[in-house]
Amino acid sequence: MFDIQTVRKDFPILKRQVNGAPLVYLDNAATTQKPRQVIDAITKYYETTNANIHRGIHTLAEEATAQYEDARKKVAAFIGAKDPAEIIFVRNATEGINLVAQSYVRNQCQMSGVKCQVLLSEMEHHSNLVPWQMIKMQNAECRMQNVESRFIPVTPEGTLDLSNLDALLDGVKFVSITHASNVLGTINDIKKIIEAAHRVGAKVLVDAAQSVPHMTVNVEELGCDFLVFSGHKMYGPTGIGVLWGRRELLEVMPPFLGGGDMIRSVRYNGFEPNDLPWKFEAGTPHITGAIGLGAAVDYVQGIGMDAMREHEQELTRYALKKMRALPDITIYGPKEDSDNTSILRSIEVLHQPVVRGPVIAFNLNGVHAHDVATLLDREGIAIRSGHHCAEPLVKKFGQTAMARISFGMYNTKEEIDILVAGLEKVRKVFTITPPNLLLL
Ligand code: ALA
Repeated sequence: MFDIQTVRKDFPILKRQVNGAPLVYLDNAATTQKPRQVIDAITKYYETTNANIHRGIHTLAEEATAQYEDARKKVAAFIGAKDPAEIIFVRNATEGINLVAQSYVRNQCQMSGVKCQVLLSEMEHHSNLVPWQMIKMQNAECRMQNVESRFIPVTPEGTLDLSNLDALLDGVKFVSITHASNVLGTINDIKKIIEAAHRVGAKVLVDAAQSVPHMTVNVEELGCDFLVFSGHKMYGPTGIGVLWGRRELLEVMPPFLGGGDMIRSVRYNGFEPNDLPWKFEAGTPHITGAIGLGAAVDYVQGIGMDAMREHEQELTRYALKKMRALPDITIYGPKEDSDNTSILRSIEVLHQPVVRGPVIAFNLNGVHAHDVATLLDREGIAIRSGHHCAEPLVKKFGQTAMARISFGMYNTKEEIDILVAGLEKVRKVFTITPPNLLLL
């Protein structure tokens, strides 16, 4: 059974005071806090095992290699990958997208000698916009056939408009799309997009950075071709991320980075690449990152993904209800996941995707988001403000900045009450006319 107080005890940082108040951490879409189990796994590795992997034949090196490869197996099982060799450890979701953009899409574009049409959406994080823009610049410099990007539009309600999907997919070779928006909280009907893309022969990458930490994600069930996520957003360490790809695609892709470990043999004028997955893991990898991520996988599975998701959805519904009652607030993103529990339950029963994850972006009308975040911080409440690494999306909603709260498994309804009281205080600060203005 999901017991929030037991869960909270696992996270040492939650005992912290910030500006004289107990920490209320509501910035989980940026990064999550780490449970004792993850911290201990990293410490234990350094205290008992530390050695480089895949190289030495001494005991510590072999133990380190076994722990690193064991973490890969845990991650594979966690996302339903059939073969651990399809799991590439990278730094983060961003690096995974860059790797696929360069080694798969750019390479295909070069080999085929024809233009490569890529389909993205208007709700992408910068990490799923800039890599495609970079290829365009690189190919233009070399006067090569180029990639062109098209975008699935976002509706004013913050969902993807899939009504023209088939037309948008015409001529498309590659689709790269977020599973869940880090700004609007929208959970996209990714399966529908993947199926439509496959009907026209396009391959699909899913950016699962904001979904893997909150719901069961199974690559075989989704049917995608590549999937990326970051360890630090799912209670693991920073600097470790995962790229999963279908073996037959990874096999034909050239290495992304060159150096030690990614080779089978090297001459002065050439090299033979290593087998998967090491072909894509040049240099000494983030060994403790992988081991810590393995511990995070154990931890979330021990809690139970379904129990965690239910708790976070309950928090999201509660927060939306409380926040909607505030005057002069604009809340962005899908409306469906409101206080209408019965609709939600029936959606879940039908195994339809719930449309909003545990992310709520908002603005207090007339108050800059940075002011909201600064004043809340004085009360110990951590939220994010700004463009959330999705500047074009925030601009599309006519804003330069939004405030955003995002939940993790350890958040509570009491913390939402503290947030709402904090927002009421912010509102008061900004509606009281300063005395010197009254004199004018
Ligand atoms: N992508 C992270 C966020 O949404 C950093 O905050």
